[in-house]
Amino acid sequence: MPLDVLAATFREVRLVDAVHLRPARRQARAYPNVTFVTAEISGAAACFHDGDATITDPLGPLCGDPEVDLVISANVLSQLPILPLDWFGSRGRVPPPDLGRRIVRGHLDGLGRLSARVCLVTDVEQVDKGP
Ligand SMILES: C[S@@+](CC[C@H](N)C(=O)[O-])C[C@H]1O[C@@H](n2cnc3c(N)ncnc32)[C@H](O)[C@@H]1O
Repeated sequence: MPLDVLAATFREVRLVDAVHLRPARRQARAYPNVTFVTAEISGAAACFHDGDATITDPLGPLCGDPEVDLVISANVLSQLPILPLDWFGSRGRVPPPDLGRRIVRGHLDGLGRLSARVCLVTDVEQVDKGP
């Protein structure tokens, strides 16, 4: 993220991530109007309960305020399902059907509902070149 440009352009910049690593925290220290929000935004938390396959919308509560001018989704869409799918894998459990696709769809739908201008930074294709 071009933090210098964002911090100079907007009154307040919130960096949302499930985890904020030290290099990102160090970089942001230079900008008093940049803050961190720790949040899991796949919307799949309910799926961790038995039988529930609901994808919720975490984006509305996080950035649905009409005061928010710009939302940049820079998580790279294909990464969103990784943690939830790992959660099931590490417990030897089968994830709800189509979980990864529904997480991606839910994220796009959530972005589409926001009144703010949205910038989506993502991958559109995966090429597996084998071993
Ligand atoms: C490609 S990196 C982008 C990092 C940062 N936005 C940037 O532009 O430098 C993907 C980021 O998405 C975050 N991420 C992946 N799945 C997430 C989830 N379910 N909830 C919140 N953040 C997630 C990861 O922690 C990681 O920092």
